[in-house]
Amino acid sequence: MTEHSAGIRFLEDTLAGPQIEHKKTLIADLEGIFKDENARELLPPEMVVYEVDAYQPVRGGTQGGLFFGITRIQPGQVGNEYFMTRGHFHALADRGEFYWGIKGIGTLILMDRNRNARFEQMQPGSLHYIPAHTAHRVANTGKDILSFGACWPADAGYDYEEIEANGFSARLINEGGTPKLEPLQ
Ligand code: PA5
Ligand code: MN
Repeated sequence: MTEHSAGIRFLEDTLAGPQIEHKKTLIADLEGIFKDENARELLPPEMVVYEVDAYQPVRGGTQGGLFFGITRIQPGQVGNEYFMTRGHFHALADRGEFYWGIKGIGTLILMDRNRNARFEQMQPGSLHYIPAHTAHRVANTGKDILSFGACWPADAGYDYEEIEANGFSARLINEGGTPKLEPLQ
């Protein structure tokens, strides 16, 4: 029997090895994502909000292929809103995804095409099924890094435009030290 190994190492909340892509998203990249644009502009533009390690063993768009990633979100706020990912629908909108909590605490915000939002608490070991046609975003509500894993179809792609244009129908804010959902005005 021949043993094959891609040489990828998945240790705690990092991916290392050949073919691993690393992407940082900075405060400067998140224009228009948080409610308080003035508060965002006051933060250092180079401040890292989140990082993704991704293993994409097949070409993007490959039918039947899978991608695997780890996201680490720093603790922090823009105004009273927790640091969070940009959020997206999938470009092929009928593709789902799994997320699971690895470290820290946070909230997965899900929104369907009718803008009905719902939320799931993330913590180490929590497993989250993101159905097709559902936008998804994660906010770090804790004082430490929040990290989570993701596995999604290689042909899912990203539709960021819809969220950039219309946002989610609720935001997660820190009200006196407690996370609270604020419906969009
Ligand atoms: O594929 C996913 O849904 C995740 O790996 C996200 O891309 C990651 O969490 C970063 O979020 P976003 O793509 O919304 O910036
Ligand atoms: Mn996704």
